[in-house]
Formats: sequence, C-alpha cells, structure tokens
Amino acid sequence: MDYVIEMLNITKKFPGIIANDNVSLKLKKGEVHALLGENGAGKSTLMSVLFGLYKPEMGTIKKNGEKISISNPNDSNKFGIGMVHQHFKLVHNFTVLQNIILGVESTKNGVLKMDEAKKKVVELSEKYHLFVDPDALISDITVGMEQRVEILKMLYRENEILIFDEPTAMLTPQEIVELMKIMRGLTKEGKSILFITHKLDEIKLVADRCTILRKGKYIDTIDVESTSKEVMSELMVGRKVNLKVEKEPAEPTDVVLSVKNLTVKSKRSKKNKLTNVSFEAKRGEIVCIAGIDGNGQKELVHALTGLSEVTHGSIELHGKDITKASIRSRGVAGMSHIPEDRHKHGLILDYSLAYNLVLQRYFTNEFQKIGFLKHNSINEYSDKLIEKFDIRYQYTYCYRYVSAYYKLSRCADVEQTGLESKPNRQPGHNNRCGNKEYVANTFWTARKTAL
Ligand SMILES: Nc1ncnc2c1ncn2[C@@H]1O[C@H](COP(=O)(O)OP(=O)(O)OP(=O)(O)O)[C@@H](O)[C@H]1O
Ligand SMILES: [Mg+2]
Repeated sequence: MDYVIEMLNITKKFPGIIANDNVSLKLKKGEVHALLGENGAGKSTLMSVLFGLYKPEMGTIKKNGEKISISNPNDSNKFGIGMVHQHFKLVHNFTVLQNIILGVESTKNGVLKMDEAKKKVVELSEKYHLFVDPDALISDITVGMEQRVEILKMLYRENEILIFDEPTAMLTPQEIVELMKIMRGLTKEGKSILFITHKLDEIKLVADRCTILRKGKYIDTIDVESTSKEVMSELMVGRKVNLKVEKEPAEPTDVVLSVKNLTVKSKRSKKNKLTNVSFEAKRGEIVCIAGIDGNGQKELVHALTGLSEVTHGSIELHGKDITKASIRSRGVAGMSHIPEDRHKHGLILDYSLAYNLVLQRYFTNEFQKIGFLKHNSINEYSDKLIEKFDIRYQYTYCYRYVSAYYKLSRCADVEQTGLESKPNRQPGHNNRCGNKEYVANTFWTARKTAL
C-alpha cells in the first residue's frame, strides 16, 4: 500500500516526559485519518513534529515512500503539509486577507500584490463554501470563522496534507456539521487529512481510519467503520468505559439567576445585539442557551458577567439586582465564568497556575494582608484545587513562568468528558510553577507558524 505520509518510530522527549515514545502513523492519500488519545497522550506533539515545530530525537518521516527532512514549518509547507492548530495562530489586528498571505506574500517592485491575493482568497472561499470576508478584522470575527481562515491559509498555500488539531473543541454543533462537510469535500479533491480529536462520534462520522495513542505510546490503527465506539474508547483509556451518562432528573429549587428583558445595543449598528431576553436559572439545574454563533450568545454572557453594559432590563443574582454591579462584585456574589476562548479571556498566560487560580479572589483576606499577597495561602489553595480537579501541568522548576495554563484551560474539558485521568506530576517539583523552556517553545511556535 502506498502512503502519502509515513511517520516511523518517532520519539520526542520534553524535560521529564516522553511525549512520543516510538510512535508510527501512516496516512493514505484521500483519507481522513483520526488521531485519538486522552489529554496529554502526545497527539499535538506528533503532529507538531510533522509540521516541523519540534525535532524528534528519533524516527523517520517519508512522503510518497521517500525519506524527507522537516526542520521548520517552511519545510513542511514545501512538502505540502499544513496545520490548523489547537489554538489558532492568527494576528488579531490584521485582516483575514493579511493573515492568509502572511509568510507567502507575492510582491511587484517591492509592493504587495493584494488584489491578486484577494481574488484567489475569494475564489477559494467560494469553492470550499467557507464564506469568509477577506476584509474583516480577525478580532471582529467568530471562533468558527477564525477556523475557516486557518483552513483557507492551508488551501492558499496549496497544501495537500491537512492537519486539524482538535478542530471542533470550540465550535457549535452546526459548525461541526459544516466542518465535517468541508473535510469530506477536501478529501474528494484528493487531499489527505489528519484529524486529532477525542470525540468518538466525530470519528465515526468523518474518519476512515484511526490511530490511537496512550500516554505517548502507539496503541493501534483501526478501521473506523468496523470498530465500535466502545472498543475505540477502551483502546484510548486502557480499560472499559461506560459511554452512557447516568443522569437523574433534576430537582430544581429556588431561583438563583433571574434575567428580565435584557437588551444590549450594538456599538456599530442600530440593531440590538440582544433584545428582551428573559430566563431564570434555578438551584440544581443546568440551563442551556442554544443558538448559532453570532446570534447574541457572546453578548449575553458579557452582559451577565459585567463585561459589557446592559441597555435595558435587569439581572438578579440570589434576589439582588446586579445589573450595574462590577465584575468583581458579581464574582464575590458567587458568579463564575469559563469563557469561550480561555486563552484570550480566561487566563493570564504569563502568570503561574497558582496566581491564575486566585485572579478572582486575590483581594480577599484569605490571600492578602495589608496589600501584600499571602503566597503560602495561594499555593496551598492551588494545591488543593490541583488535587481535587486533576489539573495537569508541565514538568516545572521556575516560579515566575507558567506553562500549566495550557492544562488548566483544559480542566473543564476533563470534567466534561468524565474520563478518569492521572496527573503526570513529577514528585518533588514545584507543581505551581512554569517552565522557561516550555514558554520559550510556545513563543517560537507562535513565531514560526506566523512565518
Ligand atoms: N513544549 C512542551 N514542553 C514540555 N512538555 C510538553 C510540551 N508540549 C507538550 N508537552 C507535554 O507532552 C505531553 C504530550 O502533550 P501533547 O500536547 O502532545 O498532548 P495531546 O495528546 O495533544 O493532549 P491534549 O488532548 O490535551 O491536547 C504532555 O504531558 C505535555 O504536558
Ligand atoms: Mg493537543
């Protein structure tokens, strides 16, 4: 069998951990090949090796049977390999078009040929039903659209091997269906797709074959159609998993949050972002707000959490009017918020894990005295949460820098999947700290990818 890409016996180590331990993966032309594994299984690392972001200690990469050497993303681009990263790498104050051409700009007498580039982007956008506006600023578009820009970046570069690293994590169900259609369309054109996910339904829906990694090791490659979800999940976690969620009917009691006629004006147009939205959330229930991205969900969350002003209407928390209350006082009153984009709005990536955990309460007597932070209390508090919620972090040795943000940002996902997982804590190391090398790597990753 001819493979378009073969990754053979890849080993990639980070300080204190073997992220890929003798892993092999073979991609057929025109297939969607899923890469399945728990958090920290080594999926992103393996794909970053293929994309030239990491150099493995051992292993060979072949394209169409011939050994190739990939030292950086420019090399991978040369071999037709493109990647949509788990956390998009777009320049927020650039337009869609500027982002797409970044690194592959064509010029005439030193002047950018923007019209030509725009024409090509519009053509590609129409051909693949991506519907992006080339002149929109990245900071103004939705997460779903940002992803389409990343896809366009690969198509613009005429990549034929497309890597999608957890592309559905931040998408709505409708956007996921659209993405699956786009992926299928791409494979019909002869492109080959590597699709990282831990959602079994998506694998069943779109993938042809699936390679499973566990704790950095290669487990198996299976044919998706003839393998049940139960078997796949067992291969992924190494034991039997009950995929049915046992859910007792809720027994809601008193109203905790009451929203009445909430209206939020748009800053840019005459149309309201929200008009007369009313609902209640009771103690003991989960209230779901459904809708397609761009229809006011973001504005609703911003209004509820105090990030933006309310034009009309009221919000009550525990019977107290908080419509005009500050963000801090809402937090003190018991409101929490896991934002859509946790890297942008939920965490301070240069802070340690411990500092991030007290961002909403560092000013309380528990964590400060006469304006000075009580580091011991902060560390004890973070230790407790690390234990309780299985927050995972990198191997660490330096206090000031944080890398654990990445795993912290995933803790909600761990809870959602309900999959049991063990922290890869290094005994004897200060688990709250960051790792200089990791931060440096992340920085270089961002830079290299922009090039
Ligand atoms: N640059 C880095 N420096 C140090 N350790 C790293 C680095 N990148 C990844 N790791 C570690 O290598 C292991 C594999 O990480 P990787 O991100 O590849 O996992 P993953 O399967 O993509 O997980 P997830 O589903 O959470 O994205 C983890 O233990 C992670 O903490
Ligand atoms: Mg990953």
